[in-house]
Amino acid sequence: MNRVAAPAPSHIFGDRDEHNGEQHRLLSLAYDPFTTERLARTGVGPGWRCLEAGAGNGTVAVWLARRVAPTGRVTATDVRPSGIPDAPGLDAVRHDIVRDPLPEGEFDLVHARLLLRLLPERLAVLDRLVRALKPGGIMQIDEFDAARAPALQAPDSAAHDLYRTFTTAKNRLMAGRNVDVAWGRKAAGAMRRAGLVDVSSQCRLELWTSRSPGLQLLAHHTRHLRDEFVRAGMTDRQLADVRALLAHPGFRACSYAMHSVQGRRPEEVR
Ligand SMILES: C[S@@+](CC[C@H](N)C(=O)[O-])C[C@H]1O[C@@H](n2cnc3c(N)ncnc32)[C@H](O)[C@@H]1O
Repeated sequence: MNRVAAPAPSHIFGDRDEHNGEQHRLLSLAYDPFTTERLARTGVGPGWRCLEAGAGNGTVAVWLARRVAPTGRVTATDVRPSGIPDAPGLDAVRHDIVRDPLPEGEFDLVHARLLLRLLPERLAVLDRLVRALKPGGIMQIDEFDAARAPALQAPDSAAHDLYRTFTTAKNRLMAGRNVDVAWGRKAAGAMRRAGLVDVSSQCRLELWTSRSPGLQLLAHHTRHLRDEFVRAGMTDRQLADVRALLAHPGFRACSYAMHSVQGRRPEEVR
């Protein structure tokens, strides 16, 4: 794949490098175990060619590079690839998955986590990712359904209301920036319609506590997306109260649903 200069990203988390590192660290902590458990089931191993699209800090790409060593290779792409470390068998590429050229029929495995939900062109990008697979190649898409993730235990009813206000504002401001917050539940159908076969999915829900990286990520969003929350009507005082609530040892919430969907490009390319 050519190294190309991508334009500045316009997605909601895009241009705040001071926050992206922490966001990616928490995503890796929260979701790499599930993602890699699912990837392992594809049989990915020595000699495979893999694409990790929208790789973030590259922890999944590094895991894949170890699996495919010594003869395989992993291409890890991102519009901001600076977080992807150097590792044997791993090529980090600055690449916009919407606009930049992508080779066709090249990869045994294509993986993307929490990328398509951000992109208004998600269906066209899904088609591109399908075409990037070799016939018989496997795709895994890991995506949230964040539409319903209620608080389960909070100190009092005001705290319940505050959490609801916060999560509603967050989903609304994400939707206002073309994020599909419920994309996880739609991914399997979209992958079938894009021509993949043997599509199967697993969905993981957990109980979030103050020690869960998933909940710490929400706390991080109060800073990362502070300006958007304020524009959506929340005050700095409320955002501070949200952080205190999320750190409260008695607080419990239902996590986002993480859907991990796998499908295979048919041998017979249509
Ligand atoms: C929410 S983060 C997820 C990162 C990583 N996949 C993970 O799950 O930990 C979304 C990532 O997609 C990247 N991204 C956003 N738009 C992109 C695009 N058009 N092309 C390639 N990467 C993009 C962002 O820079 C960011 O690293």
